Amino acid sequence: MTDMYNTPAAGDKIKKPKLHPARMQKTPAHLNGAAELEKLCFSSPWSASSLELLTNDGIGVGYVLTVPAAPGAEPTVAAYGGMLITVDEGQITNVAVHPDHRRKGFGAAIVRALLRHAKDARLESVSLEVRASNTAAIELYKRAGFAEAGRRKGFYTKPTEDALVMVCKIK
Ligand SMILES: CC(C)(COP(=O)(O)OP(=O)(O)OC[C@H]1O[C@@H](n2cnc3c(N)ncnc32)[C@H](O)[C@@H]1OP(=O)(O)O)[C@@H](O)C(=O)NCCC(=O)NCCS
Repeated sequence: MTDMYNTPAAGDKIKKPKLHPARMQKTPAHLNGAAELEKLCFSSPWSASSLELLTNDGIGVGYVLTVPAAPGAEPTVAAYGGMLITVDEGQITNVAVHPDHRRKGFGAAIVRALLRHAKDARLESVSLEVRASNTAAIELYKRAGFAEAGRRKGFYTKPTEDALVMVCKIK
């Protein structure tokens, strides 16, 4: 299991630990861990079996950040994000961070990993939909390089709400 912390070298001025999301694997630890985050964060959560789509090369990709659990137990998934890939475009499906681990840079690290993946796969752009009231996510995506590109009226249910469409061109 990848350790998310990188021990800073002597003299390293970086204050926050560097975060290293790992590729989501088709394992119960990753799939069930991400599914738990889905249940915590969304009113229409993806199940562990639907999340498997994000582990199929050429179809989708997922990244996870894990944190240590009880001694002897497997690390638990504290953040995850997924992206579906069609020809030269990526679509971020969801990014979710456990409430105990928010505002620590986990979400930003997951989005960066997805964008790096898009660049390596030579995709032209990455898009996503986000609830129009979800200020935290909209700020996170803007800071990562996404810009608003449109609005889908009544896109979400439970509760009904517009979606903002955001796009990031990959250079
Ligand atoms: C949105 C979410 C993924 C952000 O994750 P996070 O790990 O807390 O975000 P980060 O710590 O990486 O924050 C990166 C930047 O995003 C912005 N941001 C994050 N949370 C914010 C908040 N509550 N209010 C305003 N801006 C916020 C800030 O600009 C932040 O930078 P800063 O901490 O230096 O100010 C997290 O709140 C979450 O899981 N929410 C529920 C699920 C969700 O809505 N997912 C998005 C669906 S499209």
